[in-house]
Amino acid sequence: MPFELHEVQSAPGFAEIIQDHIAAFNSPPNANTSLVCPILGSGPTAEEDALKSYTTRQWYRHRMDPNSHWLKIVDTDTGLGVAGACWIVVDAVVGEGYRPMIEPFGMPEGERREFTKGVLGELAEVRARKEMHVALQAIFIHPDYRRKGVASLLMGWVLAKADQLKLDCFVEGTEIGVPLYSKHGFVLVERRKIKPVKKEEDKSEEWHLMERTLVPTLNVMRRSSQG
Ligand SMILES: CC(C)(COP(=O)(O)OP(=O)(O)OC[C@H]1O[C@@H](n2cnc3c(N)ncnc32)[C@H](O)[C@@H]1OP(=O)(O)O)[C@@H](O)C(=O)NCCC(=O)NCCS
Repeated sequence: MPFELHEVQSAPGFAEIIQDHIAAFNSPPNANTSLVCPILGSGPTAEEDALKSYTTRQWYRHRMDPNSHWLKIVDTDTGLGVAGACWIVVDAVVGEGYRPMIEPFGMPEGERREFTKGVLGELAEVRARKEMHVALQAIFIHPDYRRKGVASLLMGWVLAKADQLKLDCFVEGTEIGVPLYSKHGFVLVERRKIKPVKKEEDKSEEWHLMERTLVPTLNVMRRSSQG
């Protein structure tokens, strides 16, 4: 199958890619998706509303961060987008270093928001880096297009850039991504659970349930500059 890689520049192109993103992350089901794109309520538009709200948050974060690059892969036989990835390329030193945005914009007040904010805050700590670097934010391939080298195309774009700029690359991957990153020269640095901090006596039953089902385990992996 012939594939083409594009950098996503417009809001409509972005909405399409986010739809693919969530569909890919639901196959197989993934705790991170319920965390960052929760379906609130049970009305007929609940799923659509969740996707719209997540898209708005992601587009805002992307627009506010000049280091953020969204890529998509199109199957040129059908013209359809089949995969995407977001890379952060920090190629200039900024103040105290790079810190990703963490606010769960648009999420209603409550424990769910507090929990999500806690997870994103922990993740921001992991992703905050003083030196210039490249980091993966997300990568996803439509289930029908897996094991055809599509993720490797998305990796290749950034690894070439990283080597040209002589930058180290980082990923914080779930288990499913580890073989892909290993194949591309990443080595495991640390394996950690991203669990928000809260005093034991202040935890509600809902909080305990979220701790059991929504705490991601991440594999922090690094690929040293090969430039
Ligand atoms: C992980 C994912 C991005 C891989 O995409 P892909 O297009 O299938 O990957 P590629 O075809 O480019 O694979 C490149 C190499 O990665 C490794 N790999 C990829 N998927 C693998 C799997 N399911 N099991 C074992 N190795 C795998 C293999 O070494 C593969 O090379 P090979 O096919 O020559 O053996 C895809 O399965 C996906 O979108 N999953 C759901 C979303 C997700 O979990 N994203 C990653 C979160 S960290």
